Amino acid sequence: LTWCLIMFAMMVGWHIWGTQNLSTETYRTTPDKFMAKVQAMVDKHTVRTETDEKTPVVAPPPGSDVYLLGQMWRWYPALELEEGVSYTLHLSSIDINHGFSLYPANINFQVMPGYDYGLVIKPNKPGEYRIVCNEFCGVNHHNMLGRIVVRPAKQVAQATSQGTPQTAQTLQMTPMPVQETTR
Ligand code: CUA
Repeated sequence: LTWCLIMFAMMVGWHIWGTQNLSTETYRTTPDKFMAKVQAMVDKHTVRTETDEKTPVVAPPPGSDVYLLGQMWRWYPALELEEGVSYTLHLSSIDINHGFSLYPANINFQVMPGYDYGLVIKPNKPGEYRIVCNEFCGVNHHNMLGRIVVRPAKQVAQATSQGTPQTAQTLQMTPMPVQETTR
């Protein structure tokens, strides 16, 4: 129970991502080809599995192409990204249409089989993000969930950063007050 409360406290601090930089490129693909790319990434960069369903948590190298698969009824795999780093997030479905919806970053994207959508993303706030499906896709539509964890930027990077203005405050969209924890 304590852990749940801690997780909930973390949720309060979520901010939206650098959507001003959101750009997409669409490529043709096939479910087999896309699945192969997802699997190659999972094989190479899985850092742990999550207990319940042994979902791999994948930490791809900064700046790399990241593959996320929509399928009845999951988003696969879970991802662990780094704050302040750009990635190309490739989305596709291997069965029917799904709706990628990242909370609370408010990034929504229609995901269709046969197409690979490359979104350039740059997470600007560490924390846990949920992916839900917002396109009805069958009996378990409401349980089609996924997860992206954003790790804080490395200490070294913070020490050497040259005062880039922190825009996270103005982009904040959670109605609850930000929890300021100092440890
Ligand atoms: Cu996938 Cu609803």
